[in-house]
Amino acid sequence: MKKQVGIEALAIAVPRRYVDIEDLARARGVDPAKFTAGLGAKEMAVADPGEDSVSLAATAASRLIQRNGVDPSRVGMLVVGTETGVDHSKAVASHVQGLLKLPRTMRTFDTQHACYGGTAGLMAATEWIASGAAAGRSAIVVCSDIARYGLNTAGEPTQGGGAVALLVSEQPDLLALDIGLNGVCSMDVYDFWRPLGRREAVVDGHYSISCYLDALSGAYRGWRERALAHEVVRWGDSLPGEQLARILYHVPFCKMARKAHTQLRLCDLEDAPGGQDSTPAAREDAAKSQASYEAQVASSLGLNARIGNVYTASMYLALAGLLHGEGSALAGKRVGLLSYGSGCVAEFYSGVVGEGAARRMAQTDVEEVLAKRERVSVEEYERIMRLASDAPDQLTPAPGEFRLAEIREHRRIYAAG
Ligand code: CAA
Repeated sequence: MKKQVGIEALAIAVPRRYVDIEDLARARGVDPAKFTAGLGAKEMAVADPGEDSVSLAATAASRLIQRNGVDPSRVGMLVVGTETGVDHSKAVASHVQGLLKLPRTMRTFDTQHACYGGTAGLMAATEWIASGAAAGRSAIVVCSDIARYGLNTAGEPTQGGGAVALLVSEQPDLLALDIGLNGVCSMDVYDFWRPLGRREAVVDGHYSISCYLDALSGAYRGWRERALAHEVVRWGDSLPGEQLARILYHVPFCKMARKAHTQLRLCDLEDAPGGQDSTPAAREDAAKSQASYEAQVASSLGLNARIGNVYTASMYLALAGLLHGEGSALAGKRVGLLSYGSGCVAEFYSGVVGEGAARRMAQTDVEEVLAKRERVSVEEYERIMRLASDAPDQLTPAPGEFRLAEIREHRRIYAAG
């Protein structure tokens, strides 16, 4: 039997504070409906400098290990996907290894390509295990980021932060990946970037949306070609994309998932045998199907609407939200996943939800993690945004959590709760 490899378990970590998105809209003199209906947001995580990509990654990885009884000596690879690393040289993964006192025998490294870095790490880990080189060992892949555009910018309501840690192994209780079906599309574009030394991203917002949709089309068509060849999907009464139980998208803001789904359907409607017989307007109408969006996408967006963009982690947050709500109903069903990183690259892949998904997600305590957060005013959010990156609020981390305490002689010192 072909070796099954994929995600065995996951854990999440989020900043301790958030701002209500309608409060932010009112403070900016914007109709709150623009941020809620227009962007699909409800709340936005607010990270202070003590909650950097290291502390969030370490907290998520620690939860993953503790709650799933992971034996660290069986973990041979620790990868952190991030675009908000804390050093040009020292890996976030090294910090995480040290903070969690993990064995020296694991390979540690970071992967960076904007929001795609986590998927790059997941694929490296999956293919390492599938190749046999892992010799039965597992990998931990952590996606950790702080999305930051700055006060009074168009991107401001699409900020956020957090981390998702994934245990990758030959026991994919959450999601067994369809190895070899992946479709990829990459292009050299300036849609969103963060020059060295800057805390805030530079973004050409509307262009970034069109780059995302363009890259999605290429990646999805690549996956579909292989999935058709392997008879995973077929042209028939329903479109190939409709044969996936759910589709998870990279979620810079929730409305983007709706745009992405319309684009994916358009690819199918244009390419379907006889598809060109209909008018472009008719295809666009069919692509926008509300019923299809509700059935295949909407249920994955609950966590994203309450946390905001988490760059590398945002699609994995959607996976957490989906399996938290529907882990048991989706067992045995195939889902599609579209990862996008500006600059840019998109990868579409698929996997089958495991029988153990609901049991694993019960250990994740998603609701408890969110319930512990504190809602802050816009004034407090602005104070936090103005803190220097080396001046974290002096707060004691909660048990099992980590915070940056200070930077001394260019060395970052973390406190453990
Ligand atoms: N009521 C309801 N809806 C309203 C409204 C109102 N009063 N006012 C406006 N809207 C709607 C608009 O019609 C629009 O919806 P559609 O896109 O469906 O037409 C939506 O609200 C947003 O309005 P605008 O396009 O006018 O908003 P904007 O120009 O101020 O900024 C943005 C939107 C470009 C997404 C901006 O927030 C931004 O730059 N965000 C960061 C970049 C980003 O997230 N890019 C996504 C692709 S790149 C990527 O995915 C990588 C990554 O993670 C960053």
